[in-house]
Amino acid sequence: AMAEEGCNVSVDAADNMQFSAKSMSAPASCSSVTVTLNHTGQFPKNAMGHNWVLTTEADFKGVAMDGGSAGLKNNYLKEGDTRVLAATAIIGGGESTSVTFSTEGLTAGTAYTFFCSFPGHWGIMKGTFTLS
Ligand code: CU
Repeated sequence: AMAEEGCNVSVDAADNMQFSAKSMSAPASCSSVTVTLNHTGQFPKNAMGHNWVLTTEADFKGVAMDGGSAGLKNNYLKEGDTRVLAATAIIGGGESTSVTFSTEGLTAGTAYTFFCSFPGHWGIMKGTFTLS
């Protein structure tokens, strides 16, 4: 099926270790949402990798901290971490990636947290994602 209008959203991140948006949203009518992450920088993923990870606000820090030791091969996320609601792979400069996730378990109006789980990034690279 074709994606519904507005159910595809994108965000950029570059070598300055920042997302281009602090808040993201999609219509609550979307049964699934596709988030595309564009790394507009130049550094490779082992030096300045970025991903897009979605959790509840309460789970964010635990997921980020546990992910730090998971390594690049696991995209800096603990294997099988059920707190992760959606996540892309880690990418480097010039690359793009996306993730499509069901909105079934998400509550409209709740501010979820999106962040980059690359070690040292999540303190700055974070924002809110809301179905509205
Ligand atoms: Cu990052």
